[in-house]
Amino acid sequence: MAENVSERIEELYRPSAEVMAQAHVADWEGMAARAGKDFVGFWEEKARELIDWHSPWTKVLDDSNKPFYKWFTGARTNIVYNAIDRHLKGAYRNKLALIWEGESGETRTFSYHALNREVSKFASVLKSLGVKKGDRVTIYMGRVPELPIAMLAVAKIGAVHSVVYGGFSTEALHGRIDDSQSRVLITCDGAFLAGKIIELKRIVDEALKRSAAVEHVVVVKRTCQEVMMEQGRDMWYHDLMGLPIADPKCPTEIVDAEDPLYMLYTSGTTGKPKAIVHSHGGYQVGVATTLKYVFDLKDEDRWWCAADPGWVTGHSYIVYGPLLLGATGFMYEGAPTYPYPDRWWQLIEKYGINVFYTAPTAIRGLMRWGEAWPNRRDLSSLRLLGSVGEPINPEAWRWYHRVIGKERCPIMDTWWQTETGAFQITPLPSMPLKPGSGGRPFFGQEADIYGEDGTPVKDGEEGFLVLKRPWPAMMRTIYNDPDRYVQQYWSKYPGVYLTGDSAKRDKDGYYWIIGRVDDVIKVSGYRLGTAEVESALVSHPSVAEAAVIGLAHEVKGTAIHAYVLLRQGFEGSPALAEELKKHVGAEMGPIAKPEDVSFVASLPKTRSGKIMRRVLKARAQGLSEGDISTLEE
Ligand code: PRX
Repeated sequence: MAENVSERIEELYRPSAEVMAQAHVADWEGMAARAGKDFVGFWEEKARELIDWHSPWTKVLDDSNKPFYKWFTGARTNIVYNAIDRHLKGAYRNKLALIWEGESGETRTFSYHALNREVSKFASVLKSLGVKKGDRVTIYMGRVPELPIAMLAVAKIGAVHSVVYGGFSTEALHGRIDDSQSRVLITCDGAFLAGKIIELKRIVDEALKRSAAVEHVVVVKRTCQEVMMEQGRDMWYHDLMGLPIADPKCPTEIVDAEDPLYMLYTSGTTGKPKAIVHSHGGYQVGVATTLKYVFDLKDEDRWWCAADPGWVTGHSYIVYGPLLLGATGFMYEGAPTYPYPDRWWQLIEKYGINVFYTAPTAIRGLMRWGEAWPNRRDLSSLRLLGSVGEPINPEAWRWYHRVIGKERCPIMDTWWQTETGAFQITPLPSMPLKPGSGGRPFFGQEADIYGEDGTPVKDGEEGFLVLKRPWPAMMRTIYNDPDRYVQQYWSKYPGVYLTGDSAKRDKDGYYWIIGRVDDVIKVSGYRLGTAEVESALVSHPSVAEAAVIGLAHEVKGTAIHAYVLLRQGFEGSPALAEELKKHVGAEMGPIAKPEDVSFVASLPKTRSGKIMRRVLKARAQGLSEGDISTLEE
């Protein structure tokens, strides 16, 4: 990461003749120019080409109430119809939709026919539990097939899923259940990860003690350890699926294109995480189009997105995207290094994966184990690679390209966000690549880099990354907080979407993402808010005040460093620091555990009482503290 951007931009990897020969879009410049002239027309064309509709739209883009854009207004649809139902009629019926492998090696596969059966049965179960169109259902599970099945079942009946990542813990889960007011929760007894059991049901029980509106808990049996089942509230998934209420003939509820499909909590600038809302119509168009063009998916491909379904990457590119395209997706339950550091490479070899998509932190982590591990596996099935979640440092890019892709496979470094629903800045297989650059705006999108005053900066200069055109997969609002939607994303520069990232654009029009400019910290690609981690720290009896910052970390990209002011009567010690780390882990989840905890006598604050994290960060890095005229001290 230490290399200078200007030194790197000349390093160019041109697509081979083989890649060009099979690219869905060989002339990306031509297509970009056409879509640029008429982006609404471009999206309309893709909506017709890739998606079936129950009734047509009256308008492709309705921008009469900006920034509450609407797409395909008046159209009737359901993403599950396009992801499953329509494939049952033809050649895809017996094609594998999902291949799954558990951490201990067992395999389960689902054809489109079999997936439909499971989803329909579970959708009927949900209906019989009283779930109706528009109701929110929280899903908190490990990486088992029942997770996508539950998501699809919820969407099939027009309800709204709210998936909480299985790595989150009690307080994070409780807050998300409470905010969404879900009455039904779907979980597992436990999840296997790296040879250990994560006790999901126990965490659910704890979270529900903190007053949630949940009436029914459906529990998938996975780890088989003893769990508490509360009578009248908790039911086993396998019991319900064995009852006559689990009707395999559940109809798909056809909804309005703008009806909500899901909400997904993500960390923002201040306060509690907020739920981003995505809708059926535009989202399916955005996800199918981006996956088709960026990863060049072919009918015969096996696609592996190694993210967790609990994050947006998993929603768009494990669950919905591949199914919309009728592809075969692969999902793996466990950790990449369990039991050995070649587990992922072994899976690529075993299943003949053609396109593989992961995060820089995973690549950096696996790099540390050396080349011998991937080299003993046959990775020749791979055709394309992908990266997402944080900037990929050129050293990791080159390793991924050389050792995993054998210098044959282009790397798609896709930039996007929970809010954007689908890729926004990305290379295409036919585009020359620059290690560390996310390429260019996707078809129909226009990006820019603005200075503080809202004028574009010069090429090569750093500024705020903005998106200038609406796109179909864009979030529709923040659940229960439309003002915050307007304020956070559309107010700094009216009319353009503020991403929260800083970036540069080079002379060739390639974008280089630098990182977040708000109070979001990306730890191993996971998005966490300083406010959430701080409130977890302050919930410990010894802590009066806390501030956290992100500092560079070799594998995680960024790691959390906490500064803690203790209450009277408590004294800082290595044991207390350890206890606080554990406490954050228990409240939020292991990913939020601070790397280290420093005890301080005061925190730098503005006169109005706002903690100046920037000053803490500069001090930690031994840099100048910059403008501290507003500092209270
Ligand atoms: O900072 C950017 C970073 O991840 C943020 C979005 O996080 P999240 O909503 O959790 O979604 C992650 C998966 C889409 C962005 O604001 N980010 C995402 N992709 C990249 C990236 N930074 C650099 N390069 C990327 N390819």
